[in-house]
Amino acid sequence: MERVRYGIVGVGGMGTGHARTMQRIDECELSAVCDIVPEVAESVGEEFNVPYLIDFHDLVDRDDVDAIVVATPHYAHPEISIYAMEQGKPVVCEKPISVTVSAADEMVAAHERTGTPFAVMHQRRSEPVWQAAWKLVSEGRLGEIYRTMLVYADFRSQAYYNSAGWRATWGGEGGGVLINQAPHSIDLFTWLGGLPSRVTGHTATKGHVIEVEDVAGALLEYPNGAVGYIYCCTNEAPSTDILELAGEKGKLQVIGTELRFWEVPEGVKGFSDSSTEMWTRPDVVEVPVDIPERESGHIAILRNMARHMLHGEELLAPGVEGRNTVEMINAVILSGHAEEPVDVPVNRERYDAFLASLVATSSFGKGDQGPDLRVTDTVHH
Ligand SMILES: NC(=O)c1ccc[n+]([C@@H]2O[C@H](COP(=O)([O-])OP(=O)(O)OC[C@H]3O[C@@H](n4cnc5c(N)ncnc54)[C@H](O)[C@@H]3O)[C@@H](O)[C@H]2O)c1
Repeated sequence: MERVRYGIVGVGGMGTGHARTMQRIDECELSAVCDIVPEVAESVGEEFNVPYLIDFHDLVDRDDVDAIVVATPHYAHPEISIYAMEQGKPVVCEKPISVTVSAADEMVAAHERTGTPFAVMHQRRSEPVWQAAWKLVSEGRLGEIYRTMLVYADFRSQAYYNSAGWRATWGGEGGGVLINQAPHSIDLFTWLGGLPSRVTGHTATKGHVIEVEDVAGALLEYPNGAVGYIYCCTNEAPSTDILELAGEKGKLQVIGTELRFWEVPEGVKGFSDSSTEMWTRPDVVEVPVDIPERESGHIAILRNMARHMLHGEELLAPGVEGRNTVEMINAVILSGHAEEPVDVPVNRERYDAFLASLVATSSFGKGDQGPDLRVTDTVHH
């Protein structure tokens, strides 16, 4: 194989964006598209001059499709991804990989059973600043982590929520800011800081006429006794995007695209234990971090999967790690609704029953609902 021939399932805003992006990648090409809405499939197929299908099985089964990009609304991700992996067709699945962590388990099991490559479109991992942050953490430069913090405060208009029937409904996407807008930040947060073992969450709907949360916060407890805090919303302007990890040997802070790292050579607790001074603090040294330029965004993930298939390049965003994001999201939503702490791993049966009860009452209504628009913000994802 010289080039990977991708088929895309779901060619609304994001799927069409991926079709365009593929045209800029030497290692791959678009060979077919699929959309459950026939006129959408036809118009995108004609735009890109490729065959178009209505049923995803027909796309996956094509001999001229080597790998699949899944860009439907989230509820459909597991069924399509699992079918593709079972047919031996590698999958790049849009975020979140699933709505429930039980479905994520099934996707991970399918990947492990079949050995078919599986990636998640958590493209922010490819950004220079996050690669640099990952390097610091994985080299142990922070020492044992004592505190984590994530604030992802963004903006979405009511018109955005009204732009597709599935958006911001329990039946259509199974959550709000946590399941749709914050997953990239939550992915980075769990990638660098790991998963907590206990979550005390709060969710609310403050600024929009929607069924699901547009505000979510949580206190986090980690297995080592570390604590953390996250806050996510779609009611603020300008946006705030802050991640902080504080450890024994250093502190990492990323605000937007700016990374800062401070080293504590003697260690925070080490210094506290050994110092005999009453009013003192450990020395802190801000260390400049080299942040090499590199390709980032959707293009990096699509190219990475192609190179993984062609040359065995390591995946930037393995699909298996997409489960951590869903685990965290489910924990905060469940805890917020139950108004009590929730242990992680989340009890799968409890979450499924909880979500089913919300889906059963989902009206899909958001007041002034127009036609589905299928337009994705290509600047701010
Ligand atoms: N990674 C990112 O930066 C990013 C950005 C935007 C959206 N997304 C994700 O992409 C996914 C799609 O979002 P969108 O904004 O493109 O939505 P959209 O509504 O614009 O497009 C979804 C398309 O999927 C089609 N579809 C639905 N069920 C299908 C099925 N079973 N088989 C085939 N086609 C089906 C719909 O008809 C629609 O055309 C979501 O999971 C979203 O979270 C990711």
